[in-house]
Formats: sequence, structure tokens, C-alpha cells
Amino acid sequence: MNESEKTQKLDQVKSTCEKCFDCELGSTRTKSVFSDGSPDALIMLIGEAPGQNEDETGIPFIGRAGKLLDELFKTQGLTREKDIYICNTVKCRPPNNRVPTETEKAQCRKYLDAQIEIIKPKIILLCGATALKSIIGSKLPISKIRGEWIGHPSKAKVMPIFHPSYLLRNPSLKEGSPKWLMTEDIKKIKQYYQTLCKD
Ligand code: URA
Repeated sequence: MNESEKTQKLDQVKSTCEKCFDCELGSTRTKSVFSDGSPDALIMLIGEAPGQNEDETGIPFIGRAGKLLDELFKTQGLTREKDIYICNTVKCRPPNNRVPTETEKAQCRKYLDAQIEIIKPKIILLCGATALKSIIGSKLPISKIRGEWIGHPSKAKVMPIFHPSYLLRNPSLKEGSPKWLMTEDIKKIKQYYQTLCKD
């Protein structure tokens, strides 16, 4: 599928998602938050759920956490404009930014599955514990499993990484700190990404 075919298919799914009331979040959202970034990206980053800024704009990871995420990836020359397609496990904001329920995640899963099917990413980054649990089913703390490559039925290589909200609460850059580890993980992602770009 070329980029314009992908865009067309994604637009169809997005339009269904915008009218979706399959779970209760449909009645409290301002905007559904489908995705940002290039449909031709080799990297897909999956976060938890939209927050207030995202609910108001319809764009994922646009608040403080998203800005930090952009900054960290930019240090390795990776941007959402070119390299990373960004989305979340659920497309509507849970009230008061609570964690989405199992039912909400299950009802919304069809949109995420369609995004993976259309984009066919080579790398999937699970950003935080909710994405990790949702995609891999693992209840391991993210700190135990982050930075490891894991296989996935879609054939993409999957890596759990810290959520940027956690990094905002832990700003130290000292060796071994969460932010330092995140930078190491992004270097590892970049190394593998470069091998894909050579293909
Ligand atoms: N946190 C997330 O997990 N996703 C967003 O889009 C914004 C904040």
C-alpha cells in the first residue's frame, strides 16, 4: 500500500472513530484523538489515553508529556513528522485522566488493530504500563521490561518504554535514572531503525 492509499484507509477508520459511542467515553469526550505523524512511518508509538490538551485539540501527545517525548526522540533525529506514527490504546479521554477500563480498551481495540494493520510498522513502542498490558498482556512493571525487544504477531519488533508523564515526575538526568534509561532506549531504537532504512 502506498502512502495515499494508507491515508485514505486511515481516514475511513478515523471517521468511524469520530462517531463512535461504543463505550461511555464517547459521551464525555470533546474530540476523539486518532493519531498524529506519518502513515508511512516505520515506528508506531502507542500511549495510554488522551489527556485534556489532546481532548481539546484531537492530537495525541500534544501537552507537556508529548513535548518531552518529542524532545527526547529529536535528540536521535527521530520526529513524528517523518519517522513516528503516534496513537493511544483508547481514542477518547477518560474523565479526570483515570486509567481506561478493560471494557473501554476492548471496545476501542478495533481502531488500534486497524491502525497496526494499515501502517504495518516495523517497530512498535509501548509507552507506559497501560499500552504494555494492552498489547502484550504483561503485568510486569515497565521498569523491569523497558528497553527489551519483544516479538509480536504483526512481525514488528516491540519495545516497552517509559511513559513521558513518569519522566516529568522524575526529571533527574543522572546515569541510571529513568530519563537517562529512556535516552539509552531511544538510542537502541535508532540503531535498529537505521538498519531498516538501509533495506
Ligand atoms: N498521555 C498519553 O498516554 N497519551 C496522550 O496522547 C497524551 C498523554
